[in-house]
Amino acid sequence: MRRGTAIIIAALVPLLGLGACATAPITAAGPVGSGSGGAPAAPPSAPSQQPTATVAPSSPTAPTPTPAASSAPPTDPSQPGAPAPSPTTPIASPDYTAAPAPEAKPSAPADAHSRTASPTPTKQPDEAPSGDGAPASLHLDPNGPDCSEVKCVALTFDDGPGAHTARLLDMLKQRHAKATFFVVGPNVKANPALVKRAVAEGHQIGNHSWSHPSLTKLSPGAIRKEVRSTSAAVKQATGRGTESIRPPYGAVDKKVRRVLAGEPNAHVILWSVDTLDWKHHDPAKTLAAVKQGVQPGGIILMHDIHKTSVDAVPAVVDYLQSKGYTLVTVDQLLAPEHPRSGKAYSHLG
Ligand code: NI
Repeated sequence: MRRGTAIIIAALVPLLGLGACATAPITAAGPVGSGSGGAPAAPPSAPSQQPTATVAPSSPTAPTPTPAASSAPPTDPSQPGAPAPSPTTPIASPDYTAAPAPEAKPSAPADAHSRTASPTPTKQPDEAPSGDGAPASLHLDPNGPDCSEVKCVALTFDDGPGAHTARLLDMLKQRHAKATFFVVGPNVKANPALVKRAVAEGHQIGNHSWSHPSLTKLSPGAIRKEVRSTSAAVKQATGRGTESIRPPYGAVDKKVRRVLAGEPNAHVILWSVDTLDWKHHDPAKTLAAVKQGVQPGGIILMHDIHKTSVDAVPAVVDYLQSKGYTLVTVDQLLAPEHPRSGKAYSHLG
């Protein structure tokens, strides 16, 4: 029997925003607020463009990244309407800032959604459309851990792959730990071998869009384009498309969920522990966040495009394993729940 139902965080409440993968590859966007930007969507210094609060209607309070648009990106694919995937643009630079398109005015302090978002996410009553999607076709190892029986936790890394991903894979391999990588299309194009290696070593590849926009600001067609282009890039590199999706900034609303419900393997993965690694770039703080927020069935958010984030991995994994946790992919974590496209999960149980 399953242990608990996955929680739909519909109202990404506190989570959203800032913490969510703050970095925006392509567009030189960095974590919202990380890198050069400083405080992510910190309202005070928020750029001029006034985001219209379109975030999930169900979560009025959900802060979303602010447009820390600053360092003008070389290219600006982040335009809400024009996510034109240009396979050529590599990514990665740990320090971009600027979030493409923020959607709701950050009504909360920059670190409002600090750590774990909602300690106690609750199932979203409505979310009609969500959950209607097709069940994800999980590629699970029948001999893998049963997270309804053992203590599992999922490490997730956004925005890569990048310059530090190979080292991260080495660390995980050495510790027999599995993780999930929410990749952006351009970085996949630039590092196909890394993605292929990750899959070969048992990790899961999730979709983090192509140009890292706030999907809530896009039309249904543009959302599909963002998702499909990145999945296609992953398929080209590994033989199969992405399995699960993490919307940039964790920004989802009914429209996004409805669109994703029609896409294959598009269950929305949020998180229960936000390490804010992209913001403080301090391995010790990342570990502290994990220690403070981890719980069985949890999903931990990190970013492998930052050296300091990868530097924190050995201690994080060693700590979790010392506490009896089995590190699994998000699909392994949610397997008892049979995740469905368009439905959002922040953890199991
Ligand atoms: Ni991101």
